[in-house]
Order: sequence, then structure tokens, then C-alpha cells
Amino acid sequence: MRHLIDIFDLSPAEIDEMIAVACDIMDKPQEYAHKCEGKKLATLFFEPSTRTRLSFEAAMYELGGHVIGFSDAGNSSSSKGESVSDTVKVVSCYADIIAMRHFKEGAPMVAAMKSDVPIINAGDGGHNHPTQTLTDLLTIHREKGRLDNLTIGLCGDLKFGRTVHSLIDAMSRYSGIKFVLISPEELRLPSYMRDMMAEKDLDYVETRDLEAAMPELDVLYMTRVQRERFFSEEEYLRLKNSYILTPDKLTNAKQTLSILHPLPRVNEIATSIDSDPRACYFSQALNGKFIRMALILKLLEEAKK
Ligand code: CP
Repeated sequence: MRHLIDIFDLSPAEIDEMIAVACDIMDKPQEYAHKCEGKKLATLFFEPSTRTRLSFEAAMYELGGHVIGFSDAGNSSSSKGESVSDTVKVVSCYADIIAMRHFKEGAPMVAAMKSDVPIINAGDGGHNHPTQTLTDLLTIHREKGRLDNLTIGLCGDLKFGRTVHSLIDAMSRYSGIKFVLISPEELRLPSYMRDMMAEKDLDYVETRDLEAAMPELDVLYMTRVQRERFFSEEEYLRLKNSYILTPDKLTNAKQTLSILHPLPRVNEIATSIDSDPRACYFSQALNGKFIRMALILKLLEEAKK
């Protein structure tokens, strides 16, 4: 059974193929409108979500399929003490494919070991978020026309930001990528990620200074400082305004810069930037639906084999 737990579960060739399918769906949605007739997606969300859950659900509806699931684990039997393994074993009797978000790192992997249907990791704690990464790759590809030879700034909460970790993993497989890691000391990329980057001899620099880094960036990936991951409210309050992207900070940016953000945002991008042609974060959210359609199609096709 093929699952998507980690972005490395997909080869670069498969990602290219999925990007091509997502673009084809955008052009010819009617050709895909019945592809999943008779199929059910279960969305098991143990943590809040707007984009990931709703784009998965919209994706399945637009493929002609159905959706079951929960968005509040308090209404599921996990609130009575049921394990993730048991929940998934049971839900795989009712659904053909499962998208799961969980606050515990590794929970979707545990689910995959028990499931009789494909499991998609829709975000596990501060660990990984591979379908956000597919969304980001599709967005970068559409904006830049390529996934190689880019300087990518990742800014904000690089410690807990699972979207950052998955995106670095994904981009580590393309040539000519330079990473500029922009964060306060307290929210640096975890050492296991920095060790991986050193082992792979990836080109990266760390800085606290967003404005100094700005001129060389092709892509700026902003992130939210995630209140829910902090052990101390005081520490969160001290760090939450570390970076606020305002129009003046773009003075020295390239005209071709693409500004991405996985969303939700709090205040790290001023709303006055939304109308700047370089702001891509709302089209990025739309792209999420199309790449998830491509992913559902791929995993259901593989499940037939
Ligand atoms: N980007 C993202 O995962 O958003 P949600 O938490 O709203 O799903």
C-alpha cells in the first residue's frame, strides 16, 4: 500500500508528474469530474485546519467522490481513549483513502502501519507537512517555471515550522538551490535538519536580518510564529513579532520575487502587501486543491495494483 507520510515518499519524477496533472486539472476540470465516483475520502483532523482539510474535501468532491470524517477529535472516539491505530483500522473499513492531521509527530506513520487504505499525512505536529510542500512546489513551478537554480529565503519560525522542514527536504533534491534561513536564534532550524543539510552539502546560510537577505531572494517563504507549539506564553509573546513584512522591507527585493506563505498568517505579512503582484499566498492556497486532486488520483490508482 502506497502512503504519503514524508515528501521523500515521492520521487522528483513523480512530483513532476503530479505537477503536470494538477496543471491539466486546472485547464480541463471537466475531464476529471467523475474520476473518483464511488470513492470515499476520510478526513481525520485531530488538530485545527482550514486550508488542508477543506482543500482535500473540495478536491474529492471535484473528482466526483464523497467525503466522511471529523474536524474535531473531541467528537470522535479518540476522546474515549481510542488509539490512532484502532481509529484508522476501523475508518479504513469505511473509506478508500484517509487524510490525517495529528498533533503528535509520527502519528500518520503509525496509522499507515495499520491501514488497509492509503494514508496521507496532512501535518504531524512540528514534524512534516508533505501536501503543503506539494502545494509549495506547484506554486514555485508556476511562478518561476522551474524548481532548480533558485535562492529561497525561509523566514520566521524555522524550529517548529513543519512546512519549512518538508520544503527544505523537497528542494534538497534539486540542483542550484541556495537556502537563506532567516530566524531569531530561538527559532533556528532544528539541529537534525541542519545536520542533514551539512551531510548533503546543501548551500545554506543563517541570518537574523531579513532586509539584508532580501536582494538575492527569488522566493521568500514567510511563516507564522506558532503559539500552539510554545511551552511558554512569555517566550511566544517575546518572539511573535520577530518579522513583519511591510512594503518598505521590499524596497530592495527583486521585481520577480515570489512571496509565499503556507497560511494562516497572524501579522507577519502586512495586508497592504496582498495587492503586490509578488504576493502568491492566496494563489498558493488555491493550488493546494489541484495538487491534492492529483495526489488522490495517484494514490487511488496505485492502490488498485
Ligand atoms: N497551510 C495549512 O496547513 O493551513 P491549515 O492549518 O489551515 O490547514
